[in-house]
Amino acid sequence: MAKILKGLKLARITKLMSARNKRIADAPATPVPPLDSYIQNRLKDQLHPKVQHLVVADIIAHSADVKTFVLAPDASQGTTFVAYPAAGQYISIRQTIGSAVVCRPYSLSSSPKEALSGHYTLTIKRVEGGLMSQFALDTWTVGTKVDASAPLGVFTYEPLRDARTVIGLAGGSGITPFYSLAKAIADGDEDFNLTLLYGSRTKADILFLEDFERIQRQTAGKFRLVNVLSHEEAEGCEHGFLTAELIQKYAPKDEPYSVFLCGPQAMYNFVDKELEKLNLRRKYIRHELFGEYRNPEKNPDYPQEMVGQTFKLHVKMRDQEYDIKVDANESLLNAMEHSGLVVPSDCRSGTCGWCRSRLVAGQVYVPKSVDGRRQADLEFGYVHPCSTFALSDVYLDVPMA
Ligand code: FES
Repeated sequence: MAKILKGLKLARITKLMSARNKRIADAPATPVPPLDSYIQNRLKDQLHPKVQHLVVADIIAHSADVKTFVLAPDASQGTTFVAYPAAGQYISIRQTIGSAVVCRPYSLSSSPKEALSGHYTLTIKRVEGGLMSQFALDTWTVGTKVDASAPLGVFTYEPLRDARTVIGLAGGSGITPFYSLAKAIADGDEDFNLTLLYGSRTKADILFLEDFERIQRQTAGKFRLVNVLSHEEAEGCEHGFLTAELIQKYAPKDEPYSVFLCGPQAMYNFVDKELEKLNLRRKYIRHELFGEYRNPEKNPDYPQEMVGQTFKLHVKMRDQEYDIKVDANESLLNAMEHSGLVVPSDCRSGTCGWCRSRLVAGQVYVPKSVDGRRQADLEFGYVHPCSTFALSDVYLDVPMA
């Protein structure tokens, strides 16, 4: 110990203190510069704004149930540019629908380069029972004002983690982040090989077909599209589902590859079992789960006696308390929003932790595939209400939005 203390050279430290005190005493009594005068703070606000005020600038209708919305900054509300995203990220849209404030994540279908030119695009498909998708498709017109989060999410290519070749597995509107990634490859903003196995029912259901074919020609093999049709056979397309055999057919034979999945929940239920057959390292599999977890009662570990039940949900938010109802098959977050409570959320898929709340009392069910809680949260009784379902009356302590 004496040796360590000697090594510290206390005399020098004492001198340091007096020099520091002198500099403080000699400093001018002028105010500290405002925080936004520091370039680091300005950069932080540009990349991660708390809110982006956007306006619908154009609408491209792919069909009655699928539209692409071009969102531009709304300078009248103080947003003069859109925050730069990584290809594959999403933004959370916040809208007041009736008496409820609803927040939903949507993957950007635009590329980072398009953000630099001043806009994002969102491609939204109608979801049966989906409050936000129906609201957007039926009511948004050019000029509609929309509030959004900064770009979020980790469905992005990371060379330190991901293999050089990515097999993308997309279903339905889960194609949107891949469209962003493919364009970023064509723009030279991403450098990896992407083979996209895109599952659709029929050829008529394929989104962005011509754009993907153009990107395929532009990128000289770096991006490759394979359409997989489940309900018809067509020349140049695979027929069937996204099976392990199909993945192996297009995956590299002599080097590792990553698998990125984005699609509806039913696709994950099927594809996750197929991926088990391939014995890939865990780090090489990435899921993008956007939107609500639905039908928890279909999981084999769900207690079937709870089906059809309704419980009391007691919510504490700061100094306010509320009593509402929650159906067993609806997430706690949905129940709160439908009752008009403004609750923090972003991913709605159990991963970002933005809705993290303390479970004061009650029994809940959290599907394994969307349980993104840390070990400490499990031990100290925290849940993510977006992916948590009541199995009894529940008391929840929720942070303010
Ligand atoms: S909103 Fe992301 S974990 Fe709940």
